[in-house]
Amino acid sequence: MIEITLMIVAYLLGSIPSGVWIGKAFFQTDIRNHGSGNSGTTNTYRILGKWAGTIVLVMDIAKGTIAALLPIWFGLTIHPMIIGLLAIIGHVYPIFAKFKGGKAVATTAGVALGAQPLFVLVMILLFGIILYTSSMVSLASVLTFIVAALTAFITGDWMFTLIVWLAMILVVVRHKENIARIRKGEENKVPFGLNQKK
Ligand code: G3P
Repeated sequence: MIEITLMIVAYLLGSIPSGVWIGKAFFQTDIRNHGSGNSGTTNTYRILGKWAGTIVLVMDIAKGTIAALLPIWFGLTIHPMIIGLLAIIGHVYPIFAKFKGGKAVATTAGVALGAQPLFVLVMILLFGIILYTSSMVSLASVLTFIVAALTAFITGDWMFTLIVWLAMILVVVRHKENIARIRKGEENKVPFGLNQKK
């Protein structure tokens, strides 16, 4: 029974639309009406600046990490990734934002950080290298998740591997429009790295 309660808590936690709430509370701006229309870190950074973007990043990662750590804090044997998956679903389909949420990147990273921190640190390094060389967050996100799915088995944790695969599929699907723009050479770039200008 407590497992079910934690799943609901994790979904509600994941549903907190950090970018939307920060934008409305401090900037009177709904970021979903600007830029890429996404409610995540990249669009918050793009529209509201680095401090707002950083706060949203920290909140979105924290939602996932807290969800993954809940079963450990409660001394349960259920795998942290199962509870974490509910936070990821909440982030993508948030009850507090008409089920229109983010692209699953930061919250999945947060969940995975709670379960397999070393693996995630290596993936963050890879993400940083791709971002630095391309200046495209979307490209770094999609490629990092594909590599993560292909290599997750090295952790020896099959549930972790399974949920990383599910998250990778979700990330790719949610980046459909980004992928189309990347293919056309029209994807938005961030002011970081070697390819800042088109
Ligand atoms: O995690 C979202 C990022 O990969 C892309 O964001 O706003 O450029 O679509 P955005």
